[in-house]
Amino acid sequence: MTDKVLLAFSGGLDTSVCVKLLEENYNAEVITACVDVGQGEEEMIKAKESAAKIGGLKHYNIDAKEEFANEYIARGIKANAEYEGYPLSTAFARPLIAQKLVELAEKEGATAIAHGCTGKGNDQFRFEAIILAMSDLDIIAPIREMNLTRTEEKAYAESKGIELTYDKIYSIDENLWGRAIEGDVLEDPANEPPEDIYEWTASWEDAKDEPEKVSIEFEEGVPVAINGEMMPLLNIIEKANEIAGAHGIGRVDIIENRMIGIKSREIYETPGAKLLIGAHQALEELVLTNSELRFAEHMSGLYAELVYRALWQEPLRDDLDQAIDNMQERVSGPLKTKKLTKETLKV
Ligand code: ARG
Repeated sequence: MTDKVLLAFSGGLDTSVCVKLLEENYNAEVITACVDVGQGEEEMIKAKESAAKIGGLKHYNIDAKEEFANEYIARGIKANAEYEGYPLSTAFARPLIAQKLVELAEKEGATAIAHGCTGKGNDQFRFEAIILAMSDLDIIAPIREMNLTRTEEKAYAESKGIELTYDKIYSIDENLWGRAIEGDVLEDPANEPPEDIYEWTASWEDAKDEPEKVSIEFEEGVPVAINGEMMPLLNIIEKANEIAGAHGIGRVDIIENRMIGIKSREIYETPGAKLLIGAHQALEELVLTNSELRFAEHMSGLYAELVYRALWQEPLRDDLDQAIDNMQERVSGPLKTKKLTKETLKV
């Protein structure tokens, strides 16, 4: 008997290969789904088209952008959550993606959720922690279980006639809150990142010469307007990405301490997050007491650690959210002094 399996699908190498592996090695019927957390229209279309070509049972594109902004990124801003300088774009998106997958799997009567994570990264733990906490579904991780290298995956894809839309050099994860780029020449920290990895941020040479003032208005710790225009948080973040990116703000180049203990070089582009968290901190400095600021700083580190480690259901996360929300009651008002210049580019 075949089992129905829901596969988290992006149309990239790993997840494309997973469709066929699930059918052939796991005797499964495959439903694919791609959750939209702001990875861009093109990526969503690509996911849909490659799913149709590879030929699973059916494919879903699920729009979760508003929810991502309002329920996840908003918390990140209120908590000033950053892990080693990384505003947790990928980490914040995983619990939401996992939740959407669980809901769909249950609706479709699937017995398992599959993902294309390898055994090296953080995302395997993130997906699995949430799926296990929310459901009784089984989890299948074909790439990890079969221990496939990228070269083996490519050979397999070719043998199965899987057409890969493009052959990316780097492993990239992108959503509304940031872009993460890793792999290939970046793996050696001695290598300077090639300029062409950047898409959201201008280089020092190309960054605007004129400084720019940006005003951001907050209501209880959450941005509600940018440059005098009220708009949903989703649009504020998009705008903040554009404005700060043009000044070259938001490039983060770190040796990241991963969950399994390895150190890994990762590059982020996260202009909007740097602008909005920076503005939020500046406003907090004005309205919170000295003791509250010290406490907020401590909570911020704890919060980031929980998000990074996918401990979304850990009761402490809820405790921290309550304390943070309580403090944010006074973090309201316009902030007109965030001035963006090239100087802030220095790392
Ligand atoms: N290292 C980051 C994290 O664990 C981002 C990983 C994103 N993936 C990528 N292929 N660059 O949250």
